[in-house]
Amino acid sequence: MTEPPLLSGRALTRYYRLGAETVGALRGVDIDIGKADFVALKGPSGSGKTTLINILGLLDSPDDGELLLDGMNTRGLSENSRADTRRRHFGFVFQTFNLVPVLSAAENVAYPMILDGRATRAAAQRAGELLAAVGLTDKAATRPDLLSGGQRQRVAIARALANDPAVIFADEPTASLDSKTADVILDLMERLNRERAVAFVFATHDPRVVERARRVVNLHDGRIE
Ligand SMILES: Nc1ncnc2c1ncn2[C@@H]1O[C@H](COP(=O)(O)OP(=O)(O)O)[C@@H](O)[C@H]1O
Ligand SMILES: [Mg+2]
Repeated sequence: MTEPPLLSGRALTRYYRLGAETVGALRGVDIDIGKADFVALKGPSGSGKTTLINILGLLDSPDDGELLLDGMNTRGLSENSRADTRRRHFGFVFQTFNLVPVLSAAENVAYPMILDGRATRAAAQRAGELLAAVGLTDKAATRPDLLSGGQRQRVAIARALANDPAVIFADEPTASLDSKTADVILDLMERLNRERAVAFVFATHDPRVVERARRVVNLHDGRIE
């Protein structure tokens, strides 16, 4: 028997109501994300990339359609189970890094683990290992405002790896980075994909990312082309 895909979206539909108007942000999207996938959701601004990534990552729910995780329908999950599933299986990386400014790089990586109930010492040790994996051991004690954009994104990637996720969702991860730095970040994500078999799902209109993706899904007006 073949294994089910990691994530499987069927007829995913999402509307936003703006006063009297309804915007169809996603209009019946079918998509599978495989184990150790490296896929770019590509499309112009407003095509539904962020909406799709948020639904695939259980940050948002579709108004219609189904999302299966390892073959299990996520529709009936309570908000708590959705949050547990997110913490256990997913990591997130954003355009603007979303680091806590008053915490050091190591504390930024450890913080969600501590919130998740891990002992402080164990979290600190794991944070150290993850910063080493992204090549930032020498910046462990440094606060984000003293790091470059690329270094900040590496901290965010280390943080996203905390719980050994099956998939990392990266929404416009290179949009705040210059070309050389974007390359370094893409190299890093490619290596983590290869070495740890973590899948990456990018939402992007950046040709640098699209070029490196192993698979490209084109979105236009909330539909796959
Ligand atoms: N919170 C929201 N409220 C109203 N409309 C939204 C909201 N989020 C997204 N949209 C609309 O949904 C469509 C898709 O948006 P989005 O998923 O952010 O696209 P992308 O990430 O490709 O730029 C756009 O028309 C956008 O204006
Ligand atoms: Mg977006």
